[in-house]
Amino acid sequence: MYTTAHLDLPPLVGVSGSVRLPGSKSISNRVLLLAGLSEGTTRVVDLLASDDTRVMLDALRALGCAIVPDGDALLITGLGGRLHAREARLFLGNAGTAMRPLTAALALLAADQGGVFELSGIARMHERPIGDLVEALRPLGCRIDYLGNPGYPPLRLAPGTLQLGAPIRVRGDVSSQFLTALLLALPLVARERDLVVEVIGELISKPYIEITLNLLRRFGIAVQREGWQRFTIPRGSAYRSPGEIPVEGDASSASYFIAAGAIAAIGAPLRIEGVGESSIQGDIRFVEAARAMGADITSEANALNVKRGAWPLKAIELDCNAIPDAAMTLAVMALYAQGTTRLTNIASWRVKETDRIAAMATELRKLGATVQAGDDFIAVTPPERWRAASIHTYDDHRIAMCFSLAAFNPLAPVTHAMAVRGAEVYQLSPGQGPQALPVRIEDPKCVGKTYPDYFEHLFQVAQARAEDIPVLTVDGPTASGKGTLAGELADRLGFHLLDSGSLYRATALAALRRGVPIDDEAAVARLAGALKLRFDGPHAWLDGEEVTHALRDELVGQSASRIAAFPLVRQALHQLQLSFRRLPGLVADGRDMGTVLFPGAQLKVFLTASTARRAERRYNQLISKGFPANLDTLLADLEARDARDKSRSVAPLRPAEDARLLDNSEMSIDQSVEAVLAWWEAGKPFAASGAAAPEAG
Ligand code: DC
Repeated sequence: MYTTAHLDLPPLVGVSGSVRLPGSKSISNRVLLLAGLSEGTTRVVDLLASDDTRVMLDALRALGCAIVPDGDALLITGLGGRLHAREARLFLGNAGTAMRPLTAALALLAADQGGVFELSGIARMHERPIGDLVEALRPLGCRIDYLGNPGYPPLRLAPGTLQLGAPIRVRGDVSSQFLTALLLALPLVARERDLVVEVIGELISKPYIEITLNLLRRFGIAVQREGWQRFTIPRGSAYRSPGEIPVEGDASSASYFIAAGAIAAIGAPLRIEGVGESSIQGDIRFVEAARAMGADITSEANALNVKRGAWPLKAIELDCNAIPDAAMTLAVMALYAQGTTRLTNIASWRVKETDRIAAMATELRKLGATVQAGDDFIAVTPPERWRAASIHTYDDHRIAMCFSLAAFNPLAPVTHAMAVRGAEVYQLSPGQGPQALPVRIEDPKCVGKTYPDYFEHLFQVAQARAEDIPVLTVDGPTASGKGTLAGELADRLGFHLLDSGSLYRATALAALRRGVPIDDEAAVARLAGALKLRFDGPHAWLDGEEVTHALRDELVGQSASRIAAFPLVRQALHQLQLSFRRLPGLVADGRDMGTVLFPGAQLKVFLTASTARRAERRYNQLISKGFPANLDTLLADLEARDARDKSRSVAPLRPAEDARLLDNSEMSIDQSVEAVLAWWEAGKPFAASGAAAPEAG
């Protein structure tokens, strides 16, 4: 998961390959609750690992459920309808799928068996309504107090006296989660009589109720339904563990890749594994909406294959009540359609993770789209001029994910206005828009709510032109602090890291270990060309053996400096180094990153420090790693190595002409990092958040 302040997506021009979806959020949290209430142990397979399921698992543990990993699955031993803990404070983050059903279940259990429970969440959770559920539960004898604003969490549930004679009535037109919560919880108290739930008002998001009924059936509860107004839980109902239950891939998460396929899978289809069209999730109907816009989609039992069909996409007008979450993806697909796409019946967007109608409108406008929004609709017309935008994500995973699709802007169809302008300014190729703009996603970790690896998966299947993948180079003499600075920068930007020195060191180490003479250029170059080297963060493996420590050895460093002077060795390592330029970007450190390997890098830094400072740093580094060291020898050796690196005939150490020089002799690491990040930011096209951004070109 990217935990950087923001993530810059380079302009993308294609998708291919396959992705495996994470488990469905809606199914995961329902299954967890049902397993937690059941008698016996349930093996849950392919559970979604995310913020929302984590808070549910924490809550179940606090209530006394035993939860143990079993390979990739989880074994959950439920309460069997009996409260183990009579008191608990449950923090439920921003998970509506945990807050609502746990409120219903614990309110009923507290009333029936006694117990005091406090349920709270993050600030936004405390702005999401729960009053209709509380109003439905109170007449049953549940005692529920608002600890903050009336109608909203946090809540305190206290012992009461169950009265199940009265009809159970709940509003269905604000959030279907209230009805789901009641249906999941009422079997707890249906021992002696049928329990009937009546829905007041038109029930929204019916497909989510279907998921609830479907999963209840899997756990032994056969709810009878008359239309969408009356639901009966038969007397004597009791949760029965199904033994093992698989969680389908998340259909809402699938929408981003379906859209990506419709926009950018131009030859072969993109394969999406985890759901097929027969899924029990309502958002699978996004498939039909995407087809209506032009996507070419075929389904297997548990996978979808998507490629571009009609192009440009077709603008649609659609009632999205049945697919509220996935419909956000349609609003971004609309950027690639001809005409105006109008999505209606989406009032529920206003009470989700954020006010999604307002948020979508604001962010789409930043990209240059024309947007009309009302209480329950949004209408999107594609930009005539795309702009580089920094997308604010409102702690809303879906905003972050659907706006990543704006990175395909180089593929955007050419509108008339673009074509006129393009004729003056750009060479237009058919189907190729005149722009190639990066898209900044602020606070990318918000995807952790349902899809922590979303961006990693996107980068696995998306293609960018190599020259569009940003590179930041840090060159400089040995012990100038390049490695530390580059590592820090890569972390802060969410970029890959190329420590090119380690490739020369690994070659030297391989030569030393295999007895290849260090001055045999051809033999050492052959070794370099066939290195079996693997990196994982700061760790390195050579021929399957960890060499992280061995690479830092002084003899290895000195030998590396010598073999680095051989043109054949440098050539042998050239392609390997270029292959580190992968989405979303690269920080490369070495001697010739800015001059030879990445002459087109967006920012080149040449780092220096006085020889005395560098010798001192190297001394401290060696001592701290347990290597013997002597300051005078180190100083002499540094000077000799500098002389060799600068005077060698191939790729001598020197700053690129357009490099920024940074003397960090008197700077802390933090200061150096901040200085370089300020240069990096200055080269970005994004305007300050909220303000109009500069236009394409
Ligand atoms: O940065 P370092 O000390 O790990 O580098 C080891 C040696 O490799 C160093 O003496 C110079 C050489 N080198 C190089 O010639 N070109 C690079 N891009 C990186 C390192």
